[in-house]
Amino acid sequence: MSIAILAIESSCDETAAAVCRDGVILSNIIASQKIHEQYGGVVPELASRAHVQHIVPVVDKALLTASCQLSSVNGIAFTQSPGLIGSLLVAAEFAKSLSLSLNIPLIAVHHMQAHALANLIPSTTNGQQDGKPDFPFLCLTVSGGHTQIVLCESPMKMKVIGETIDDAAGEAFDKSAKLLGLPYPGGPLIDQYAKKGNADRFKFPEPQIPGLNFSFSGLKTAILYFLQGHEQRDPAFIKENLVDICASIQKRIVSILLNKLKKAAAETGIKDICIAGGVAANSGLRKAFEEAGKLNHWRTFIPKFEYCTDNAAMIAITGYYKYLAGDFVSLNVSASARAEW
Ligand code: KG4
Ligand code: ZN
Repeated sequence: MSIAILAIESSCDETAAAVCRDGVILSNIIASQKIHEQYGGVVPELASRAHVQHIVPVVDKALLTASCQLSSVNGIAFTQSPGLIGSLLVAAEFAKSLSLSLNIPLIAVHHMQAHALANLIPSTTNGQQDGKPDFPFLCLTVSGGHTQIVLCESPMKMKVIGETIDDAAGEAFDKSAKLLGLPYPGGPLIDQYAKKGNADRFKFPEPQIPGLNFSFSGLKTAILYFLQGHEQRDPAFIKENLVDICASIQKRIVSILLNKLKKAAAETGIKDICIAGGVAANSGLRKAFEEAGKLNHWRTFIPKFEYCTDNAAMIAITGYYKYLAGDFVSLNVSASARAEW
């Protein structure tokens, strides 16, 4: 029997829905919320309201694009946690209503597990099926709210073996961008400017954190003092050196991430290594990750660009594996801003 999963994601500021049939993604629809740009960050109340407006058209489009009738869906997957509670509630309550009215299983998905499992979405390049990582694999999951090294033993069994003790990598990009006067979210802009800059021009410190954990707050402070010092002497410093500053900041963030990933690979002996999450869209990280893979004889995997930043296809693929495992939840389930794995 073929299994169709409808997945809904609303944990932050993207309203997304996707359909997968037998593990193949048939549609992946996202409505982004531009309204937050003027505030320099996501405003939770505005995000929840926008999700309420977008959810019906986004789900309709996902079903239509997949040529899938609601009546032929076998399971409803939704992001249960972590995220902004008012945002999470929209997809959670919508999914519960659908599950109740269609009398089909409800599947609760952890957003960060889904980011890692985006690496299991089959993709085709030039007519050739791309490879998937074998279990166990390691995934460096880097987003706006999280930075983790995850040991993935099976789709249902994952363990965080390293994580940030303060800011996430995405926050490091966004906060640095803010210091440079760039709009929110600044990560993609730093990426763009960095392409034209000299990454060796300025040296930012690498934190000395034991084990596999990360820290980015010291880097943020170092960048603040660096910019303040230069601007006092030359008010045009940022404007005239923007591309080199961006390239140097990006180089340091990438090296912090990859040094810990190399350590995790060496300690576990695992050679199938993935990256995932919004920051995995960063061109500097993608390039340096591939290079590290060649040097260390890893098999490297990066989700397609649209499956790195927040999306519902990753919720759908995780929902599919949970469906196969019979991992369902009751209608009493509630969304949760924070959740342990
Ligand atoms: O996974 P995601 O879409 O949402 C969360 O779950 O947080 O990640 C969003 C983060 C933001 O901090 C954004 O600036 C960052 O990913 N990001 C990037 C790039 N694209 C998105 N950071 C650096 N370079 C990029 N190209
Ligand atoms: Zn995310």
